[in-house]
Amino acid sequence: MAKINTCVFISGKGTNLKRLILNSNQYSFPIKIKLIVCNNKNVEGLKLAKKWSIPYLIFCNKQNLSENKILIELKTKKINLILLAGYMKILSRKFIRSFGKSIINIHPSLLPKFKGLNTFEKVLKNKEKKTGCTVHFVTEKLDEGKIILKKFFYIDKKDNVASIKRKTQNLEYNAFSEAIIKIMK
Ligand code: GAR
Repeated sequence: MAKINTCVFISGKGTNLKRLILNSNQYSFPIKIKLIVCNNKNVEGLKLAKKWSIPYLIFCNKQNLSENKILIELKTKKINLILLAGYMKILSRKFIRSFGKSIINIHPSLLPKFKGLNTFEKVLKNKEKKTGCTVHFVTEKLDEGKIILKKFFYIDKKDNVASIKRKTQNLEYNAFSEAIIKIMK
């Protein structure tokens, strides 16, 4: 089957990336991960790139210089889709426009609630009844853009930041892959 050339951006542990790699190794899953971009050379997620021999690009310097380098690499590798899997930097308007193709992000809340950082703390502080994750297209505005899908669970009285994070991330792994299949249909 023809797969779409994909680049995954990460900043941390890479548990979402791991699931995406495993799924993309399946014949019927519609993406091929041709490149991983990471803004921190010390994160665990990079080990996955090495383990599966996926080319990767690390940048820790000036954002605009780095974005130009990344754009060149995206073009060279004929990338048609970018997945932000725990990428904690904001892409510039110029980058989004220059790439000109779909960029998808996963966010650990039920958007439009709790954009930005410290999501789990905000969810608890706001005494939400339920929470979850959202997969959406990336636009120039932070955590906005058309929503592809959301998944949720009900919060238990005993839940804390750690348990909410764990439950949210367990939903994320399927949500991301389901969203990719959904946009390809
Ligand atoms: C995920 O929970 C993702 O939703 C979140 O970072 C985590 C990365 O985990 N992303 C954001 O907060 C983006 N605003 P991972 O590195 O183990 O996949």
